[in-house]
Amino acid sequence: MSQTWWRGAAIYQVYLRSFADGNGDGVGDLAGLRARLPYLKDLGIDALWLNPWYPSPMADGGYDVADYRGIEPVFGTLAEAERFIAEAHELDIRVIIDVVPNHSSTESAWFKEALANPAARDRFWFADQPVNDWRSIFGGPAWTQVPDGQWYLHLFAAEQPDFNWANPEVHQEFEDVLRFWFERGVDGFRIDSAALLYKSDTGYEDLDAVHDVYRRWREVADEYGERVLIGEVWLPDQERFARYLRPDELHTAFNFDFLSCPWNPAELRRVIDLTLSTHTPIGAPPTWVLSNHDVTRPVTRYGRADTAFEHGGRLHGTPSDPELGRRRARAAALLSMALPGSVYVYQGDELGLPEVEDLPDELRQDPMFARSGGANPGRDGCRVPLPWSGDEPPFGFGAGPSWLPQPESWRKLTAEAQRTDLGSMLTLYRTALAIRRDRLGDGTMTWLPLGEKVLAFTRESGLTCVTNLGPGLVPMPAGEVVLASGPLDDGALPPDTTVWLTAS
Ligand code: NOJ
Repeated sequence: MSQTWWRGAAIYQVYLRSFADGNGDGVGDLAGLRARLPYLKDLGIDALWLNPWYPSPMADGGYDVADYRGIEPVFGTLAEAERFIAEAHELDIRVIIDVVPNHSSTESAWFKEALANPAARDRFWFADQPVNDWRSIFGGPAWTQVPDGQWYLHLFAAEQPDFNWANPEVHQEFEDVLRFWFERGVDGFRIDSAALLYKSDTGYEDLDAVHDVYRRWREVADEYGERVLIGEVWLPDQERFARYLRPDELHTAFNFDFLSCPWNPAELRRVIDLTLSTHTPIGAPPTWVLSNHDVTRPVTRYGRADTAFEHGGRLHGTPSDPELGRRRARAAALLSMALPGSVYVYQGDELGLPEVEDLPDELRQDPMFARSGGANPGRDGCRVPLPWSGDEPPFGFGAGPSWLPQPESWRKLTAEAQRTDLGSMLTLYRTALAIRRDRLGDGTMTWLPLGEKVLAFTRESGLTCVTNLGPGLVPMPAGEVVLASGPLDDGALPPDTTVWLTAS
């Protein structure tokens, strides 16, 4: 791949705790991931993004980082991480890791020092009393008191104290952390909560100073060549969003408008057009994201009457039609892979896993659940360990019970069961990713006028993608069918189906 491999890459998200357990303790780890690298190669992805793998008390699934230069012992060792990076590279798979610059862990050396010594508190936000009435994004207050009476700010869980980016030491620390991992071969960083770093009297979202941080990070990344910085930037304002992607800042950012968009032709077309008009003038490639470790699994979401995603209203327990959801998730996968730019695949979506909505409350680990007093079920339902093989839990995930229980019904969804099934979700993903590698990815698209309920466009390679979001059959443009997300009806495209065609 070229210098700009990230512009059109298919990036697979590994939620390490739930990917594969190599040592039988019920939690996914590097040994499990290394053993499954051939699966990922066969799937046909270009890069992996791993959620945080650092030492962590796991108050927020690893987004509470205690040491930015280490590996959580439950996951493995630094030496093993280095071996993993080398093995992935041998297979021509790039490795992107998470960096969490907005907040740390109460177990970090800096925070412990701050607790022990009030003179060492400037790296965080300490005050004699809460200086505002901010609420934690996970629910509850954003300020917590320490034993000597002072309070500290945490936009997320109390175990995640926010850094003070007005302190130059924080800047130095993160530049060192980037270098530490670049020198160990990582190909890029996914930047957690990227727009939240600075705080002012009025708020914390998207303050201008944050751009200086990323300009500096870009200089660091550029020293190493072919490295990528990817922002987790949830901003409704596209102009503000685009500022993160200026040529001297981040390379790409997740497209959350697309992820949140309902299964509706007008809405999807609006989001696609907006995405293109935001990215094209600044030369940044769009990204296409259907899901991740924070949101409801697509097959469940698309099977509901309300197919949009919103953090506040997760619609947990709302009836979902599994067949409809599966059909739409297949159509959405082909749509997302055909659009110009890079595409993300969250682990398990290639198996068509549904959201697990009936986890017992006592097993739920997401702080969102506890901090909302149980009002918000949180994100555990999309983080259930993957089913690999066999007829009963843990379905080859590891040797013993997994940290979150898998539904018995997943026996039909194991990678093994789907591998040779031509109609499976896994086969669809593998086939689509192989075609995408040659004919899709970075570039441009041209809409074709096939009616209001249809999204149709062509790509430079001559491949045409048509998605029918209406209730009836739609005539297909002339051409040879390369791949379809579901059965075709005598030359017509059924509802909730995507087809890829080439001119014959
Ligand atoms: C976004 C991450 O994706 C999410 O999982 C995490 O809880 C928050 N940032 C806080 O780090």
